[in-house]
Order: sequence, then C-alpha cells, then structure tokens
Amino acid sequence: MAEPLRVVVTGAAGQIAYSLLYIVAKGDVFGPNQPIILHLLDIPPMMGVLEGVVMELADCALPLLHGVVPTDDPAVAFKDVTAAFLVGAMPRKQGMERKDLLSANVKIFKVQGEALDKYAKKDVKVLVVGNPANTNALICSRYAPSIPKENFTAMTRLDQNRAQAQIAAKLGVPVRQVSNLIIWGNHSSTQFPDASHALVNINGANTAVVEAIKDAAWLNSVFVETVQKRGAAVINARKMSSAMSAAKAASDHMRDWFLGTEDGRFVSMGVISDGSYCAPKDVIFSFPVTIKCGKWKIVQELGITDFARKLLDATGKELEEERQEAIQIIEA
Ligand code: NAI
Repeated sequence: MAEPLRVVVTGAAGQIAYSLLYIVAKGDVFGPNQPIILHLLDIPPMMGVLEGVVMELADCALPLLHGVVPTDDPAVAFKDVTAAFLVGAMPRKQGMERKDLLSANVKIFKVQGEALDKYAKKDVKVLVVGNPANTNALICSRYAPSIPKENFTAMTRLDQNRAQAQIAAKLGVPVRQVSNLIIWGNHSSTQFPDASHALVNINGANTAVVEAIKDAAWLNSVFVETVQKRGAAVINARKMSSAMSAAKAASDHMRDWFLGTEDGRFVSMGVISDGSYCAPKDVIFSFPVTIKCGKWKIVQELGITDFARKLLDATGKELEEERQEAIQIIEA
C-alpha cells in the first residue's frame, strides 16, 4: 500500500468539514488505495467540539484513515501536508460590513499562507473554500512565495454543480448526462454561470445544451440568477448555509485536481489569472480547466458573446476591487 498522504482541513469543527472529513477519509478524493493522515485545524475555543469530531472519525472505522492530528497550531496543522482544504473562516455576522469580513479573513489567510510556506510540502495543492474564497486564495499565495502560484485555487465547483443540476432538471435528464457548464470569475453574486458551451448526452450522442433547451431568454436570466442566488435560497430554507453540497464540491475539486478530468469534460476552478479571455491578471479567477498529471490548464478559444463579455468584465472588476481592498488591509 502507498505511504499515507497528509491532508489538512481547516475549520475542522465547522459544518462543511463535518461532511467533508468523511468523504475524504473514506477514499473518494485521493483514491481507494491511498491511505491518509488528517490534520484538523480550528481555533482554541473549538477544541472541545473538535475532540467530538475526532471521536466520530475513529468510530467510522475507516480503513484508509491512518491517523488524525487535531490542533489549534498552524505549525502542526500544515507540517508536511500534500493537500490543504482551507475551509475555516470568520462567518459574516449581523451588522458586519463586507469590508469587516474581508478584513478578518485576509488576516487569517495571510497567517495560513506563511505557515504553508514554512511547513507544507512544496507541491502542496491548496483549495480555498472560506469566503471571500478567491481573494483569500490570492492573499494566501502571496504569503507563500516558495510554493507555485498555480497550487492555490478557490472553489467555484459548488456553483458549477448547482448549474449542472439546474440544466439537468430543466431537460429532465440525470446530472451525469450534462457536462461542461462554466463558472466564470468570482465566487460571489457577480459570478457568471455560462451554459453556452455545455453539452447534454441524449441516447449516447452529445448535443449543445442551448440547442436542447432552445430558450436563450431562460438561459440568460432565470438560469443565471438561480445559480447566483442558490446559496441565499439554501440559507432561507435551512437557516444555515450550504454544507453538504459545499463539502461534496470541495471533494470533487480536489479529486479532479489529483486524479485528472475525464476526456472531453472540463471543470471550473478559481486559478491565478494569466489574462485569458481578457480577465484581469493576478487575481484568482474561475475559468474552465482540464487537468492531467496534477496540472490544470485553462481551456482556450471558447467563443464569448457580447452578453458574456459584459458579465466577465463585471466579475473581473469586482475581483480587482477586492484585491485592492485586501492589500490595503494587510499593508495598513
Ligand atoms: P462554520 O462557521 O460552520 O465553520 C467554520 C469553522 O472555521 C469554525 O469551526 C471556526 O471556528 C473555524 N475557524 C475560524 N477561524 C479559523 C482559523 N483562523 N483557523 C482555523 N479555523 C478557523 O462555517 P462553514 O459552514 O463550515 O463554512 C466555512 C466557510 O466556507 C465560510 O467562509 C463559508 O462562507 C464558506 N463557503 C464557501 C463556499 C464556496 O462555494 N466557496 C460554499 C459554502 C460556504
């Protein structure tokens, strides 16, 4: 059997981690033959709760789980890790301005970037889930200069999965038959869920989703808004934010990054922008990517309509503004 991989999950006492830890520990992310050692980071007041999570992981009796390291010390949490799920973040509280949230969180991601730089493996793959995920990932990368920028990503897979589910429901087909939905830009309400390159497999043949649905108005309005506002809809119904679906999306993102995307399919990830599709450079922008041998590559030469261009520009502008605010906070 392979040597165990060390995998850190931050915010390990929180609700997303509660679903994510089980998915990771049972082998859905790194493969059915890959043992892992889980490093669980949370803040000191949560150590009691974390102890309960550790007990439950033990009680799951999972054969691939070779060890669990609960801690409130980033130096211990990030030591020798090969994969990092950065879920922990300060939640938005009542009366909190967006700037206050950004301020609290960029400071967390600065500390975690420094700890990754010092203690993690140099090829560690980092997925930031904690919001604002794209800008947190950018800050984290800036404070980990010895780790390639390509190794820092932000999660827009939940948005992609939501988009895929909406299209599948509209067409009345299982989700598996729908592919190549794209989430462009920021994981925020300015994200652009784009079905114009998506495919649906009907009776073994791929058809463009736009042809199958034949309702451009629905695709450009109801579909886009439903995906953009899905997080708020879940909060309204559940009185808590998406957790099971966020955990599933985090595991999908990391699995594809480690094990690769299927031929003919692409997925969306927030990655360091090289200016593809005229997105601003040096922000973490969600693009369609394919992945082979642990390396992602932005899918090129997809057609961009005037409608899409406007939305791409708006989400890019928001990311530039967030970057500027984050840098001001950190350098103050
Ligand atoms: P939660 O509040 O249940 O758990 C967060 C955990 O993070 C808590 O246990 C907290 O103590 C911990 N934490 C806070 N500061 C920390 C630090 N400095 N180091 C380590 N742990 C720390 O929140 P939940 O529901 O698990 O969500 C976590 C984050 O994920 C939130 O920021 C949420 O907005 C974000 N999210 C992102 C999604 C995406 O698609 N990118 C989707 C859903 C949620």
